[in-house]
Amino acid sequence: MLAGRHLIEPGDFSVDEMDELFLLAERIETEEAYLRDACRGRLLATLFFEPSTRTRLSFEAAMMRLGGSCLGFAEPGSSSAVKGESLADTIRMAASYADAIVMRNPKEGAALLASRYSGVPVINAGDGGHHHPTQTLTDLLTIKRLRGRPGAKALSGAVEGLTVGCCGDLKFGRTVHSLTKALSRYPGLRFIFISPPELRAPDYITQGVLARAGVEYRETGSLEEVLGEIDVLYMTRVQRERFFNEEDYIRLKDSYILDGEKMSRAKRDMIVLHPLPRVNEIAVEVDDDGRAAYFRQAKYGMYVRMALLASILGVPGC
Ligand code: NCD
Repeated sequence: MLAGRHLIEPGDFSVDEMDELFLLAERIETEEAYLRDACRGRLLATLFFEPSTRTRLSFEAAMMRLGGSCLGFAEPGSSSAVKGESLADTIRMAASYADAIVMRNPKEGAALLASRYSGVPVINAGDGGHHHPTQTLTDLLTIKRLRGRPGAKALSGAVEGLTVGCCGDLKFGRTVHSLTKALSRYPGLRFIFISPPELRAPDYITQGVLARAGVEYRETGSLEEVLGEIDVLYMTRVQRERFFNEEDYIRLKDSYILDGEKMSRAKRDMIVLHPLPRVNEIAVEVDDDGRAAYFRQAKYGMYVRMALLASILGVPGC
């Protein structure tokens, strides 16, 4: 169903297609040998023009667990971009060597551009402060697994009635933009955005996506004030690399720190997500709290990327 498709932003796949992917990911998680050699002989190009740990490693792990192989680069300094090669040419080359391309690039819109020059599927692993759709697949699978009914077919039941709190750098944090856009398609949930005024979510998310879809949301500067209402708390780091000056970053970087004392005021069944890397925004003491789900979330990311790769590469039955 998804064979040959690009994934540039969360709206590229329908709600039903996402449900299929989550079911496939859950099957991969529970049945150890399932799809083990399904991508033998296939190649994945991982082109990372920006730093990454989880996303790149989890794509590589996913492809290798499917029996396939990976090639690529982890920093632009080792690619011909430093010689002045255009993105279009780099993509044409990668598309002639590999069966699919995963790309992270600091420029908003780079993945969409890449998809126009590629004869093989392109997966956006982050384009500047814009979108990061495979992190969203990771986040949604985590919510389904931790808040949904075991064995449920659809994500919708797990998210209905939830209050989702997004906290931190909502301006530059692409994971929040993608997550919000994806969740706006499910009825019955609401958002609380918690950020300093300078780091509010962009209008194209609040006005362009949420208001247009009739989704309830509110904005506040205080985490303490709203913590008790939240079911899913999505913490994010302040995105240093997207600031124009270091002084602003230093002033804003510790705006929110989730610690044990704050956790004592949150719901007992709240879950805490974070795309990682964490800097200071979650105290290490929170890691031992059963509601801290960010390391489990990283693992779900690998399963859902396996499901995604098998699907776009046209593995029969996926
Ligand atoms: C995120 C990203 O790159 O946007 N990381 C990730 O992919 N897990 C979040 C971040 O860097 O803060």
